[in-house]
Amino acid sequence: MTADEYIGDDPVSRRDFLRGGLAGTAALATCLAGVTGLAGADAVAAQLAGRRPADVKSVGLEPGRVRLAFNENPLGASPAAIEAVLKHQDWMNRYDYTTTLQQAIIRHHDLDIPRPSGFDFKATGDRHGLMLGVGTTELLQILALQALMKYGEVLEALPSYGQITRVGDELRDAGHAVQARKSPVLPDGNHDLDAMGRQIGDRTGLVMICNPHNPTGALLPHERILEFIDRVPPHVLVAIDEVYVHFVRDPAYRDFIEVAKERENVIVLRTFSKVYGLGGIRVGYAVAHRDVIYRLAPFSMGLLGRNVLSVHAAAAALGDEEHVSRSRQAVWDGNDYLTAELERLGARVIPSHACFLWADFGRETQRIVRQLWSRRVMVRAGAGQWASPNHIRISTGSREENEAFVWALERTLG
Ligand SMILES: Cc1ncc(COP(=O)(O)O)c(C=O)c1O
Repeated sequence: MTADEYIGDDPVSRRDFLRGGLAGTAALATCLAGVTGLAGADAVAAQLAGRRPADVKSVGLEPGRVRLAFNENPLGASPAAIEAVLKHQDWMNRYDYTTTLQQAIIRHHDLDIPRPSGFDFKATGDRHGLMLGVGTTELLQILALQALMKYGEVLEALPSYGQITRVGDELRDAGHAVQARKSPVLPDGNHDLDAMGRQIGDRTGLVMICNPHNPTGALLPHERILEFIDRVPPHVLVAIDEVYVHFVRDPAYRDFIEVAKERENVIVLRTFSKVYGLGGIRVGYAVAHRDVIYRLAPFSMGLLGRNVLSVHAAAAALGDEEHVSRSRQAVWDGNDYLTAELERLGARVIPSHACFLWADFGRETQRIVRQLWSRRVMVRAGAGQWASPNHIRISTGSREENEAFVWALERTLG
């Protein structure tokens, strides 16, 4: 992801911003102080209230930067995962032929897969199938490629994480006869399943449903998605991206793992990047009927996409319930705080079931995002790929990071 995509499509301002960034923090501060008097005003205001970005030391970042742009876990990795990495650090000369991670996932979801092989990146039983990926992103890539090669079209919400759309658009631009159809979300941030249903045709091979949705944080009820699955033609694979499912606030919500175990046209995607805090070590997985897994397998990186440290970290993280519940609670608390503060400052916020907030400022947000960046707070603008110029997506940070964001936003909005 480039800086351009985060601050939108205004090339002149973007250039100026990047030039400022390249000049370094000290020069930037001097420049801002000279041009706007902000540094002085900021310093005075900091005496009065709030935590400044300069005061923040985030886990995994150099001090003084607040990064609320990638939906990362602000608490860091699961301690059990860190311990597992340390324990296996001298295995780094070896390729991974263990079944540790497959076994852990099989147990976690009670999959009927009796004998996973260490020499395979997938595991299948008579009915159930499991596939590991280099993050969920590799699995999305595989899903898009398989569907586009076989049928020619894929369908995804707009805005969305967008890996499926990216693959379709780039192949189309390269001259391939494929298409990524986009379906605008409803005002409440949810997929418009009726409209999506109408967009499905003979050439549609894949429909993506991200629940809770990125970037809106909205959650569709389980039953609504199930009705949709019942209605799609049997050749269409419905992929449910559940990378944020641990943050759902509705205790009655049911995820789709059991459905994927039973149906032959549903696949569920999960990741270790979010609640488990392992985004940098790249592990995701998919659960589906074994025939679905076989169809997708030729597009995978295969066994050598597996990383000897990641598998042990991920397996340990899966059992670290304490870290999961601490991370979840931190996100819920952070979302409550940020929602109240954003609303106080005039934005409209969709209730979030994920580790970020989608805020509508009722006016273009590029400049706001650029000024936040200049204050060392990184959030993601809705312009560009997301086609939502009035929005900003703010990943939920630690308490300190959230406070520093609010401090910077207050000063940006004036
Ligand atoms: C909805 C969604 N799906 C998939 C991913 C990919 O995650 P990873 O490749 O880190 O597993 C992300 C990452 O932010 C996401 O937001």
